[in-house]
Amino acid sequence: MTEIAPDGSPVLLYASLPSLGEARLIHEAVRAGSQILELGAGAGRITHELIGLGHQVAAVDNSAEMLAFIRGAETLLADMETLSLGRRFPVVVLASNFINTPDPQNRRTFLECCARHVLPSGQVLLQGFPRAWAPDTEWSRHGDVRLRLRRYELDGALISGEMQYEVGGHELFHVFESRLLTDGELDADLSAVGLRRRRSLDERGAWTEAVPESRS
Ligand SMILES: C[S@@+](CC[C@H](N)C(=O)[O-])C[C@H]1O[C@@H](n2cnc3c(N)ncnc32)[C@H](O)[C@@H]1O
Repeated sequence: MTEIAPDGSPVLLYASLPSLGEARLIHEAVRAGSQILELGAGAGRITHELIGLGHQVAAVDNSAEMLAFIRGAETLLADMETLSLGRRFPVVVLASNFINTPDPQNRRTFLECCARHVLPSGQVLLQGFPRAWAPDTEWSRHGDVRLRLRRYELDGALISGEMQYEVGGHELFHVFESRLLTDGELDADLSAVGLRRRRSLDERGAWTEAVPESRS
């Protein structure tokens, strides 16, 4: 099984990668037993741990092959760009560096999706590249997965790279382009969709909590 999601993510990889602490961090930032909308949930790596921590999760992804791995959550096969559920959640999670997408219009579209699905009193939790990102091309192991940044080019704030993975006897590759954002740039994008940055959730500055501008 080596299916690839429409965005180039290898399904086998995300079905095999263990939690890397994301769910615990989310859990500590939200109320007990929250209803969480998780955008780009993949094969449920974060979803399953959030459920184990007592939250209810609605998991959105545009890959049916990814969603097929998810158990115990409402699954929604949809593009974030057009998702309009007509209901709002206390917590919306956009992990996996979606906010670092190089196209500003795409970035805005992802954030609009967060804004139209969060309650006025709610939280949007965003994971991006840490403030002081530095390339690390060493191999690392996470459960049964070995991975490394195989190659990269830096052009100002733009990163073009290729990840290499070894999992279940398969070698997988994922080419990506990302853009490092300053706090000011993120603030401008958030403000454009009616959100504001409230705090960082970790020391590296990879996780940001944003809230509706109207929230006190
Ligand atoms: C890098 S994977 C991360 C999956 C999961 N968040 C995790 O950390 O394990 C990104 C996921 O987002 C999904 N995705 C990418 N673009 C999307 C879009 N525009 N709308 C919905 N899902 C999308 C992909 O299918 C993939 O499952």
